[in-house]
Amino acid sequence: MHMLGNSFRPIHYLGSKLRILEIIKSTVDDLCDENMAVADIFSGSGTVSKYLSYNRPVVAADIQEYSRVINTAILLPHSRTMDREGIIEAVNIIYKENKLKYLEIINFEKEALSQIKESKYENICSIMELGPLVNAITKNQPTNNYTFAEAINQIRSDFLSKGVYSKHAITMLYGGVYFSYDQAIYIDSCLQYLEQINEKYKYIFHAAILSSASDIVNTIGKQFAQPISPRKKDGEIKTSIMKKVFKDRSQNISQIIFAWLQKYNNQDQPKYLNRVLKGDFIEVIPRLGKIGVVYADPPYTRYHYSRYYHVLETIALRDFPEIPKSSLNGEVKSSKGVYRSDRHQSSFGVKSKSAKTFDTLFSKCSGIGSPIVLSYSPYSKELNVTPRIVTIDQIIDSCSRYYSDVNVISCGDFSHSKLNKSELHLNASDSAELLVVGKKPKG
Ligand SMILES: C[S@@+](CC[C@H](N)C(=O)[O-])C[C@H]1O[C@@H](n2cnc3c(N)ncnc32)[C@H](O)[C@@H]1O
Repeated sequence: MHMLGNSFRPIHYLGSKLRILEIIKSTVDDLCDENMAVADIFSGSGTVSKYLSYNRPVVAADIQEYSRVINTAILLPHSRTMDREGIIEAVNIIYKENKLKYLEIINFEKEALSQIKESKYENICSIMELGPLVNAITKNQPTNNYTFAEAINQIRSDFLSKGVYSKHAITMLYGGVYFSYDQAIYIDSCLQYLEQINEKYKYIFHAAILSSASDIVNTIGKQFAQPISPRKKDGEIKTSIMKKVFKDRSQNISQIIFAWLQKYNNQDQPKYLNRVLKGDFIEVIPRLGKIGVVYADPPYTRYHYSRYYHVLETIALRDFPEIPKSSLNGEVKSSKGVYRSDRHQSSFGVKSKSAKTFDTLFSKCSGIGSPIVLSYSPYSKELNVTPRIVTIDQIIDSCSRYYSDVNVISCGDFSHSKLNKSELHLNASDSAELLVVGKKPKG
């Protein structure tokens, strides 16, 4: 389910703000008139921006390209004349042609998936353990599975003589790892079609691809931090996960994209003139123009968001990124997660820089004369760590240097109420979300 009341959830997102949208909205409403714009400067999946956009103009910004694509699709006006069947038909033509290049691998995979039903797991394990196809092709012995090795051989000569399939990054890097090869080839075909599609539908189609990739990915939490490993440390196959492996890798991505196209297409036209920006918050804040309030939901963990969404970033950028390699016992391997070398490392998540970065955030927002509402994210059950690098007291001190009238609002049991000091520490130690409000910028 992607809709919750008036909310829109384009991708599976860690630390999603779905449950506290209404509290964020009323806190923002208390700070400025209805016709004034709000800037959501760490907009991520766009869920908060979208919700706030029903009542006031929004400027959504983030450093990641996938966020820009999604925000453009959900916040800017769009054409309603899209022929969904026509789009899928056109993609299918490209897909059929692409598939021919991978025929034996696709057949091997089909067989491996159907064998799961007979409790035969060796072939699917070989696929899941191979790593990026691009590495297997350039290495001589990518797998001990003879049939699979033969299938890979089929594309090797083509690949080596014609060079890297530059338009097949998703298949070459993430096929077999995060998606089935078949699904990955379909995503690459969509991205190829994106180059021809009428400009009017470009963002909605691109966002629908991102949403679908987030739906089908074969990982435990629907993020891209770590592919599923099919064996325990002692080599025994994890039979309990095989049902999920089968389900995720058998999902018909064409149908899922079709459904997402409808969801994006059925959105009401935006009520206000919204804007979408991309960039580091330091250079984005001076570009915000006249706004009534800044909403800021920066990362709090040392686990960088780019680690969870790097595959979406490649789908959004449509490039063939460099993947860092490490050498283990003389064997050169890509990182298991197949992360991009250039993935963004936010200074909010670096212990030595975090406090200073928050200070810069408050100083910049105060500098443009805007009140600020900052989400203080609690202990994250999803990440299974206690990741707060800065304490709530440090945040309040930092905010108070640049704002007078600083308050903390709980989104948990004390919902909507302003907290006194002891309530504050009680709240900050459980998993309640907090909003730190700096009302009056100091001149
Ligand atoms: C906690 S998430 C935001 C989630 C968002 N509120 C939502 O509901 O989807 C933090 C976001 O900050 C972005 N980010 C991290 N460092 C940044 C920086 N220096 N400038 C701009 N954006 C940054 C990340 O890409 C990520 O999308």
